[in-house]
Amino acid sequence: MFTMKSLPKWSLISTIVVSGLFLTGCSEDSEVAGPVILKTAFNQSEHNPQYKALEDFSQKLEAATEGKYKLEIHPNELLGDQRAALELVQSGAIQLAVVANPLVENFNQNFSVLAMPYIYDNPEHQRQVFTNGMLDALFDSSKGNGFEVLTAYTAGARSMYVKGSPIKTPEDMKGKKIRVMQSDTMIKMLECMGGIGVPMGQGEVYSAIQQGVLDGAENNEITYADLKQYEVAPQFSYTGHVMVADLLVANEDFLNKMDAADQATFRKLAKESTVTEFELFDQALEQAKQTAMKQGATFVEVDITPFQERCIPLQETLLKTPEQKDIFNNIRSLAN
Ligand code: GCU
Repeated sequence: MFTMKSLPKWSLISTIVVSGLFLTGCSEDSEVAGPVILKTAFNQSEHNPQYKALEDFSQKLEAATEGKYKLEIHPNELLGDQRAALELVQSGAIQLAVVANPLVENFNQNFSVLAMPYIYDNPEHQRQVFTNGMLDALFDSSKGNGFEVLTAYTAGARSMYVKGSPIKTPEDMKGKKIRVMQSDTMIKMLECMGGIGVPMGQGEVYSAIQQGVLDGAENNEITYADLKQYEVAPQFSYTGHVMVADLLVANEDFLNKMDAADQATFRKLAKESTVTEFELFDQALEQAKQTAMKQGATFVEVDITPFQERCIPLQETLLKTPEQKDIFNNIRSLAN
């Protein structure tokens, strides 16, 4: 069971290593003029559409607040993996981070609905859910743990990729050790797909596959290509089993201390960055696939019906509370 109580070693190291950096960070009381720097942890590269959406958010924020606030984005897990980054946001050492939904779900089980297998029919369905305000109450309920979820970004649909023969059916998954993100739901999801889920941070995946600790992983085409995971797991099967939200989270104290007008601007622009991010993500997908193919990856279409059927019981066990059922029904009500 994943709880945030067990602090990973990496998280401690990153907290110590980067703490010097924060001394010069966000300080509203500082006598030195200039923007308040919002330190932002990001676990992917500068090429990722989310990075570009954050840059755009920063520029708009700076313009709208007459140079008062600006994001300083630290990509590539420089501030630690997503678990560590979330802890840094909680403690106020940094102000913002993008973390995958499963990390927040460790604090608030209602979030698990956002990353249920096959809950969104397609990217447009997910875009509507993330932009029409239906998740505002859920985001609001994240308060009380030192962070608040501001908005959700798409990370596309995740699919399975392995070394050896491609995955075509749930039977092909038997005994296969596949890396998943660090949450119980992700482990259970892998089980329902027919394999064995091994939780770990993203940065370790390449070498774990290379060394045979894993048979493969599951992710979207952009991360697959950007991290060159095709080199170690070239068989990419379009299982499209889950469209996990990524969440932009902010430190609660920092938000509370902002004056009302700045806070309103900040919240509005954060939400609008989701619209930008969806567009950028869509534009980057095909390019990522082409890059991976040129480097030897094979993309295989699979019949997803048997995978979907095997995941129905998991969907049912994940919907325990009335809130979870409401979120589920609201999301499904927007499906075509
Ligand atoms: C996606 C997602 C990230 C996540 C990563 C992972 O790329 O956008 O937020 O960290 O998958 O598998 O860890």
